[in-house]
Amino acid sequence: MTTPLDVEAIRKDFPLLEREIHGRRIVFLDSGASSLPPTQVTSAMTRYYESTHANVHRGVYATAEEATARYEAARVGVGRFLGTSAGADEVVFTKNCTESFNLLAKSWGAANLTSHDAVVLTEMEHHANIVPWQQLQQQVGFELRFIPVGDDYQLDLGDLDRLLEGAKLLSVTAMSNVLGTINPLKHLAARAHGAGALIAVDGAQSVPHLPTDVVGDDLDFLCFSAHKLYGPTGIGVLWAKAEHLAAMPAFLGGGGMIKDVRLDGFTAADGTQRFEAGTPPIAEAIGIHAAVDYLQGIGIEAVREHEQALTTYAFEALEAAFGDEVRIHGPGDGPGRGGVLSLTMGDIHAHDLAQVLDQVGVCVRPGHHCAKPLMRRFGLNATARASFGIYNDRDDVDVLVEGLADASRLFG
Ligand code: ALA
Repeated sequence: MTTPLDVEAIRKDFPLLEREIHGRRIVFLDSGASSLPPTQVTSAMTRYYESTHANVHRGVYATAEEATARYEAARVGVGRFLGTSAGADEVVFTKNCTESFNLLAKSWGAANLTSHDAVVLTEMEHHANIVPWQQLQQQVGFELRFIPVGDDYQLDLGDLDRLLEGAKLLSVTAMSNVLGTINPLKHLAARAHGAGALIAVDGAQSVPHLPTDVVGDDLDFLCFSAHKLYGPTGIGVLWAKAEHLAAMPAFLGGGGMIKDVRLDGFTAADGTQRFEAGTPPIAEAIGIHAAVDYLQGIGIEAVREHEQALTTYAFEALEAAFGDEVRIHGPGDGPGRGGVLSLTMGDIHAHDLAQVLDQVGVCVRPGHHCAKPLMRRFGLNATARASFGIYNDRDDVDVLVEGLADASRLFG
């Protein structure tokens, strides 16, 4: 296997990886929960605070205008990373991916859904793409339908035409945060549109790891967070086709999102600003812009190639070391999955596994991964999830195997 990424050079951009935990170098295998930011991101944010910071869309002094220009430039940069030149009109900054889904449900959903409508989700969704729809359903009374997940860990599309009948929206994850399954977005978009529905996509796990093409795939909405994309916490994105945004009512109310306010009412601002009440996450927007520039510098195709090769190596190493003792809950190795390995080892609890792994410096996430319906579907309470990023290499997988062997000796 040749790696297209110079991981050794990349690791130098991530000072946190220099830390030792319990006398061992840190092996960070939890990028699915939150990735580490490179110094290119943290320094861009610090430089912004030290040289430019002012509120945006308000002041007319030089630094305030610079801050506004840089905040708006972040929209364009993020848009380009998603495959569109229309970021200025289509990228809304939120708090995180979860808030993006809440915006979508509470703005687009509340304006467009009635008790006669249906929304189609899938059994493999993160709670962020379930609960906001359930909350709205309690108020409006529309039907929620779920595409089932087969024993092969893929969406079972056999009944999709019936599920989409009369539906206004299909909202689906691009890549499962538990299984690693990559879903066929272009196909799903065509099927949704063919049935007269729009398509929303949870890109939290895909945007940092796979090429994204909102135009080529013909998507309507895409939600994701910066903190899984080597960017800062506190900022997420709702990307929406401009024509949809233009027709959506405001979400949170307050300063910044209005054209006019009178004692008897208000008029909402046009464009993306209508959805950004109050002082927005300005330094964080500088941060996400630096993060997408950083990833573009590496090349997202190379990132994908690297993580796919590392996943293959992990499958082989785990199989060689443990055979059936370790189960990977998700599709087999291949192009249809990402670098997310949800592991169980016999009946050892995932939290115990994670604690033993911590002893050798390995960071994984144990638990239900905020996808309880999916976990129930497979009869699982918890898994220990290892998820890869650009700074991981074969040595990291070897330490994971070493830690799992320790767990096997301790509990087996
Ligand atoms: N949604 C994040 C995860 O899957 C936190 O771990």
